[in-house]
Amino acid sequence: MSERAKVKEGETLLKVEHLCQYFKKNKAVDDVSFEIKKGEVFGLVGESGCGKTTTGRSIIKLYDITSGNIYFKGERIAAGTLSYRENIKEARQKLKTETAKKAELENYIKAQQEEIKAAKRDHKKRRFYTDIQMIFQDPIASLDPRMTVGQIISEGLVINGEKDKKVIEKKVYEALEMVGLVREHAGRYPHEFSGGQRQRIGVARAVVMEPELIIADEPVSALDVSIQAQVINLLDDLREKMGLTVLFVAHDLSVVKYFSDRIGVMYYGKMVELADSDELFLHPLHPYTRSLLSAIPMPDPEYEKQRKRITYVPLKEHDYSVDKPALREILPGHFVHCNQAEFDKYRASVQE
Ligand SMILES: Nc1ncnc2c1ncn2[C@@H]1O[C@H](COP(=O)(O)OP(=O)(O)OP(=O)(O)O)[C@@H](O)[C@H]1O
Ligand SMILES: [Mg+2]
Repeated sequence: MSERAKVKEGETLLKVEHLCQYFKKNKAVDDVSFEIKKGEVFGLVGESGCGKTTTGRSIIKLYDITSGNIYFKGERIAAGTLSYRENIKEARQKLKTETAKKAELENYIKAQQEEIKAAKRDHKKRRFYTDIQMIFQDPIASLDPRMTVGQIISEGLVINGEKDKKVIEKKVYEALEMVGLVREHAGRYPHEFSGGQRQRIGVARAVVMEPELIIADEPVSALDVSIQAQVINLLDDLREKMGLTVLFVAHDLSVVKYFSDRIGVMYYGKMVELADSDELFLHPLHPYTRSLLSAIPMPDPEYEKQRKRITYVPLKEHDYSVDKPALREILPGHFVHCNQAEFDKYRASVQE
């Protein structure tokens, strides 16, 4: 069995279920669901502001999420309560008129209140999970300029209760070497490094915790094109050596294409398409995915002559006034956010 097939059959490491993260009226992430299998690289793609970083930050519990659940190795690590509160509100409203259903509605309200209690309890259980580490988007802003590289890399170990200086030093040196830096770098400050090296420091800070899941938030987008490949290769090496699972965030598809097993495409807080990488490139169905693909230049002059950039204009593409959209499975493992009419159309197109 190929490595990839093994991954497909493997255990689910992370499960994000109906995740909502609202900032007042801004629905930064709005009902997003996906799973990542152990050993897999899952690419999350979409334009600036669509909610990729917010999704990552929700997973590492930097927010108290608005609604939905996040499971890591089967354990619920984050939960929000808005959906239950809305259910209660609706049931209370019904109580006013549907007197015959009084007992049933009251039981339902009680059950929802229990859900809220359980959600709060699970969410509070632990603040941080060392098993999940994030490499932050901006390698300059995310490294404290007053701390040495050694202090930056060891911060998580110290917070986690490690006191033995020798152990800390050894782990810092190992992490530096693992990311292609040298132990002498531990005593220097972030400003003494190039952009690519700073991102390596960010990677070292994550891997020193020996995580199972790494969230790499646009780890190369701030870097020079020539350096991007180096950092991606580094992540790929580490993935193999450490058996890491990776949630790889990027805003353009060309970066995630070769690196990801599966890809999720986000648009304004929604997951609009999710499929195996090859399948997504072969049969892009959602018009937003098609527009992203049309933006990728290819080293083929014939193709380039014909390449037309498609712009996605939601109001032109969909009529969701009556027939409402949801994430629907078109082919096994290939999901598209669409209504019933679009579903039928997509189904027909892939069966031709
Ligand atoms: N802490 C916050 N408070 C209020 N609004 C926020 C906060 N963080 C993000 N937002 C808003 O949520 C939306 C999603 O932002 P997010 O940073 O997740 O996007 P992104 O997909 O990572 O974009 P980029 O590719 O530019 O990094 C944006 O409208 C942003 O302004
Ligand atoms: Mg971001």
